[in-house]
Amino acid sequence: MRHNFDEIVDRRGTDSRKWDTYGTDVVPMWLADTDFKCPQPVIDAVVKRAEHGIYGYPPDDNKNFEQSIVNWQKKRFGWDVDIDWAEHTPAVIPAIIYAMRAFTQPGDNVVMQMPVYHPFHAIIPNNGRHILGNQLAPNKEGGFDVDFANLEELLSKKRTTMFLLCNPHNPVGKCFTREELTRMAKLCLKHNVFVVSDEIHSDIVYKGNRHIPFGSLSAEAAANCVVCVNPSKTFNIAGVRTGAAIIPDRRNHDLFYARVEDNKAYGRTIFGTLPVEVAYNECDYYADQLLEYLEGNLEYLNTFVAAKIPKIKVTKTEATYLVWLNCQALNMAPKELQKFFLEEAKVAMNEGSNFGPGGAGNMRMNIGCPRSQLQEALNRIEAAVKKL
Ligand SMILES: Cc1ncc(COP(=O)(O)O)c(C=O)c1O
Repeated sequence: MRHNFDEIVDRRGTDSRKWDTYGTDVVPMWLADTDFKCPQPVIDAVVKRAEHGIYGYPPDDNKNFEQSIVNWQKKRFGWDVDIDWAEHTPAVIPAIIYAMRAFTQPGDNVVMQMPVYHPFHAIIPNNGRHILGNQLAPNKEGGFDVDFANLEELLSKKRTTMFLLCNPHNPVGKCFTREELTRMAKLCLKHNVFVVSDEIHSDIVYKGNRHIPFGSLSAEAAANCVVCVNPSKTFNIAGVRTGAAIIPDRRNHDLFYARVEDNKAYGRTIFGTLPVEVAYNECDYYADQLLEYLEGNLEYLNTFVAAKIPKIKVTKTEATYLVWLNCQALNMAPKELQKFFLEEAKVAMNEGSNFGPGGAGNMRMNIGCPRSQLQEALNRIEAAVKKL
């Protein structure tokens, strides 16, 4: 089966946050969903189920759902997940919150690497925990390295109990290597720090890189982590609000599940679990073709920006459809930068300072769209930068 990723689907007026936040004269290249239709088998299954016409309570332990999580981890990453390790969650962010409540206490420190996905900056203090940021270090290749010395210093602090890993990393598009992940796992074990690995972007990893599930590193690493997954980014089903947590250790699993129960968050939705099951069981073809298409978008962007907008430097992107654009040479403060792209170029992107220390001077562009839309956005940016 072939999917047409060039197809333009009008999303305006369809309850789309990405498309209905800004005016119709703005190209939205911000929020992390794609502008691609989801796979046809998912659409067909949802339509068929909808036609049944009765949408009563589904069971709380539909094993088809857990099996689809197991299947995907095995097929795509070679990780043998036991079906009892997988738990339904309403999405990834709630799963991170349940893990934080299960494995840390109010007043504890949570370490994460900066700059990072902006909601992390809210959920940690909102739950009475402190953020300790380990700055990712720019390297000569135009990407980022882990500062292991500082990481260890933060992990060794008395009240550090959790490391929130974004694997692969949003917004800098870094795919951590097995060596890097193994070092992180060892440091966390040494300092008794629990790992929560957010692997929502794991399917979108470009040539020459490989996603390694944190729980697949070793038996010790598996016993010290929760891995959070969601097919939402890959199959463009973020609106169905359904994800999963993989918790290999039984005791950890029970501690996590107790937090789920406290919030009565185990209830599933028919139109949440069904798309996940169909996507993970039947839609490998779509994930493969998506990756190929995004690889083409990334190549187009890299070539265009290097040739026509040299003041902007594109971060070496190893993973995710989120591209980190270094705009420091434009010499603008964060608010000014946001205003410039929105009002002069008429392109909406996420402004970098929202991602924490190290973010200012950057913009995050979502390239999960038909190539023609990316071309339009880049032409607009080129014209606006030329006018400066
Ligand atoms: C790293 C990361 N984690 C979590 C999320 C949100 O996940 P969910 O909608 O499943 O809570 C996103 C969405 O962009 C993300 O980039």
